Amino acid sequence: MNIPEIIRQMTLEEKAGLCSGADFWHTKAIERLGVPQIMVSDGPHGLRKQDLEGDHLGVNDSIQAVCFPAGCATAASFDRQLVEKMGQALGEECQAENVAVLLGPAVNIKRSPLCGRNFEYYSEDPYVAGQTAASFIKGVQSKNVGVSIKHFYANNQEHRRMSSSSVMDERTKREIYLAAFEQAIQEAKPWTVMCSYNRINGVYAAQDKTALTEFLRDECQFDGFVMSDWGAVDDRAADLAAGMDLEMPSSEGVRDREIVRAVQEGRLPEAAVDLAVERILTIVDRYWQNQNPHANFDRDADHELSREIASQCMVLLKNEDHVLPLSKEKKTAFIGAFAEAPRFQGGGSSHIHCHKVESALEMAKDYPVIYAKGYDVSDHTVQQDLYEEAIRAAKSAETAVIFAGLPDALESEGYDRTHMRLPDCQNALISAVAKANPNTVVVLHNGSPVEMPWIDEVKGVLETYLCGQAVGGATVQVLYGDVNPSGHLAETFPRKLEDNPSYLFYPGEGDQTVYAEGVFVGYRYYATKKMPVLFPFGHGLSYTTFQISDLKTDKAAYADGETVRVTVHVTNTGDRAGKQVVQLYVLPQTKTDAVLRPVLELRGYEKVSLMPGETKTVSFELNRRAFAYYHTALQEWTVLDGDYAIAAGGSSAELETQQVIHIAGRKSLLTDITLNTTVGDILALKGAREILRPLMESYGRTMGDSASDSLGESTASMMEAQMKYMPLRGMISFGDGKITTDSCLAMVEELKKLL
Ligand code: BGC
Repeated sequence: MNIPEIIRQMTLEEKAGLCSGADFWHTKAIERLGVPQIMVSDGPHGLRKQDLEGDHLGVNDSIQAVCFPAGCATAASFDRQLVEKMGQALGEECQAENVAVLLGPAVNIKRSPLCGRNFEYYSEDPYVAGQTAASFIKGVQSKNVGVSIKHFYANNQEHRRMSSSSVMDERTKREIYLAAFEQAIQEAKPWTVMCSYNRINGVYAAQDKTALTEFLRDECQFDGFVMSDWGAVDDRAADLAAGMDLEMPSSEGVRDREIVRAVQEGRLPEAAVDLAVERILTIVDRYWQNQNPHANFDRDADHELSREIASQCMVLLKNEDHVLPLSKEKKTAFIGAFAEAPRFQGGGSSHIHCHKVESALEMAKDYPVIYAKGYDVSDHTVQQDLYEEAIRAAKSAETAVIFAGLPDALESEGYDRTHMRLPDCQNALISAVAKANPNTVVVLHNGSPVEMPWIDEVKGVLETYLCGQAVGGATVQVLYGDVNPSGHLAETFPRKLEDNPSYLFYPGEGDQTVYAEGVFVGYRYYATKKMPVLFPFGHGLSYTTFQISDLKTDKAAYADGETVRVTVHVTNTGDRAGKQVVQLYVLPQTKTDAVLRPVLELRGYEKVSLMPGETKTVSFELNRRAFAYYHTALQEWTVLDGDYAIAAGGSSAELETQQVIHIAGRKSLLTDITLNTTVGDILALKGAREILRPLMESYGRTMGDSASDSLGESTASMMEAQMKYMPLRGMISFGDGKITTDSCLAMVEELKKLL
């Protein structure tokens, strides 16, 4: 397409029209100019292509497709290649079905375990979310199909999602809520971004020019188009001016007319419409130029792939006395309705119409397994007959495996959970079965953490998350040891909901949700508070054991901005082949009151496959951002001068090896100096001590005597410690009369030259 020429020939009405959908899933075609339409479809963990009547809540049917593990599970794989492979399969499916843009990945941060959509999201940590998203995007887009990274941004709850305002400071925004988008956009260049429903500090995401234009385009170099979440438009002209290009779904012409009027009345420059049109046409053209008529959607092959991925995502949380893997010879009781009909996906727009689903029960048919239903998925009260049958089954078997989890109704897009518990009947069943059989294992199907009041009563827990339509086979492979579990938690499991840092502020008051915990989200909070948790971020067991050792950096001291090269050894110390996730954290060591920082932050990870006894060396490169925090007043990422520990381990709570390095970063954060600036802050500036010397001596002469009276001694260092928090003007009050306001002001001018 000759896009500039097409735009030149388009009428204002045609341009306005192109800025909203033709229907639920298509952009508009302009036949007279040869502009074809494109189709978009949900996403993210399968293709929800609706041929007939469209809806955004997964109510009406879509074509039969393959449900892959949801975001909660794929992030737990900590495996970039695997996620990319899943993306490739989805891209191929889209090509075969003429879908130009897949609506995902969903990268919102898991601020609270209650968010109804946590199952679609990746992590409480922006690095894991950003890396997983980048891999997914690279995979899908390698097939010349675009993605729509969503929901941009700060959409961390379903409660009042279309009206609530996420209120937060700039540092929290940058370090936590924008960071995953930033990383994925810069690394993988998504074709489109979907803006969220909510407001941020009072401004609708669709109208947030700072975010949509300055951040996305200027800072992240995003070059595709931004579309609205379905129905996220409030003021179309304001959206366009801010950089929100395509409204979805169709407004049946209503908003197109509003755009035309806004241009005619001079409220919206036509150039803003032209820009949106150009961006949309660029993607339309990119898709059609690269359309692959030979693409093939092989559902059975993708089902197999879905199983392979699922088996790499599951997290073995507990395995006392090696209760797992199960014996293929001895009798096992599978207890719980989810053994027969697993829960493997969540409700809402990501809901896939699966071409087949396999259960653990069916996939374990060759092993000695007996089954008892245990509970009714839709009735949360204990059903005596099911309960007794389950206990009988447990007693008759070597091991009892309970398939528990959250029923559909407790976890879905559109609303949040109200608590973090499993249904009461399941908790009661687990305790009772554990009493009946000491070898009890719980297999969980849930998209977000649950409380485990029975954790000390059972020997094993396997978290399968919502692992897609092939969850049954993958679970059996892991339970029986054909696959060695290698998933790790991309989020913390707190002991109870009240421990979560957002607890007091979630879901907010009316339409205001204040993110008062700031950057202390997830493990950043729990670790800093030294709070015991049920399972820490990064945790995940294996049937073998690993040792991570010998962390080395290429140097001991670095300049600000210099790359830090790290190597670390990882050894399989057990007797089975397995995979370990080597996690790299940075821990600021130098105490400062300049900024409140989490004790540790994840800055790298690598999943490593090892034979028994094998050792591999893993290399990491840490760039400036790994040590920086966002300084709001300076409006820049800042590295403070000081010591930083770099530590590696198999979980955030088990750091096995570390090195401390020094970075010659910024010593002073002052941006201005006035009479109210403290002496301590000024002294951090190179050369300031010389200028301040007369003041300090004057202060010393007057205060020295009284200090020695009260303390019995007076040393220069005590004096300096006392002066540290004194504003410069204090020298006038406490000096020996020789310091005047004018001399102080002259000194301020001198000091400013040091900034
Ligand atoms: C969801 C999006 C989804 C869209 C289209 C919205 O309700 O928030 O994630 O892509 O519907 O179904």
